[in-house]
Amino acid sequence: MQTSPVLPLSERLSAKVRKLNEVSHHKTMDHATVLPWDQEIDKRLWPKDPEHLWIKGTRYYDQLSEEQKLEVAWLETARDISMFIFLEQTLPPLYMGYINRFHDRIAPEVQEYLSIFSKEEIVHTLTFKRFMAKAGLKLWQPPVGLHDLLSKTLPPMDPPVGILFTLLVEWVAELSAMHTSQGPDVEPMTRALFREHHYDEARHIAFGRWISETFFENGSPEQIAQVRQMSRQVIPKLIDMFTYNPEMPLHTSFAFPIGPDDRDAIETVWRSEHNRQINQQRFAELYAWIDKLGLVA
Ligand SMILES: [Fe+2]
Ligand SMILES: [Fe+2]
Repeated sequence: MQTSPVLPLSERLSAKVRKLNEVSHHKTMDHATVLPWDQEIDKRLWPKDPEHLWIKGTRYYDQLSEEQKLEVAWLETARDISMFIFLEQTLPPLYMGYINRFHDRIAPEVQEYLSIFSKEEIVHTLTFKRFMAKAGLKLWQPPVGLHDLLSKTLPPMDPPVGILFTLLVEWVAELSAMHTSQGPDVEPMTRALFREHHYDEARHIAFGRWISETFFENGSPEQIAQVRQMSRQVIPKLIDMFTYNPEMPLHTSFAFPIGPDDRDAIETVWRSEHNRQINQQRFAELYAWIDKLGLVA
């Protein structure tokens, strides 16, 4: 029987993961108390920075009334939350699957953190769903491609690969949500939801970075080449997904200026100067990291 570790840890990293476990046990999001659930969500307020609407800076934006812009802002927020729900629901089976498959090849402290991580994602999805119901927001469709990546492609692969792609997805989602939701004029319940979620997510991202960096130091050249090839396909799609989602016209109460299959208009929005600038700002740290590890073409 092979018993070499699938997630080799240095003594220093082992100590960091043990510390992460302790912090997580003491400060973790609690579904019942994370938000004042008896308070109203005020949908007359912006749930995000209005300067960050996906079609801002294009001619389509100028066709919307102020009321329609507010509706679109809430729909974009519904999409962001839906994205968290669909993605985070795939993570407990992925990580618990690794523990089941490699129970004798993953260090106990890492098994503990994978369990904490899984538990936290379940609490997050419950909280996100409760928020959506309370705000009268509807779930969007599962993200095309990403859902299969997390629920089908990654489970049979090695744990560091699954942890790396989980990190990339979570990091993009988290930078997007936090970049737009923390201003003083943002609807208070929405701002608090993303802020509270961020405390747990910041730990998930730290863990993902440690494990991924270790993988790039110790992984076989073949494995690393395979991961780079995958990431070069996944990352641009992931960025586009958070820049504009073509599903928008299926949700608006009015005729949205871009049809769901209007590839030219969708491409114009994805490549707009305004979105390029927003992506440069919000993803600066991520871009530097993926560049350093050769994860982008
Ligand atoms: Fe989460
Ligand atoms: Fe997470």
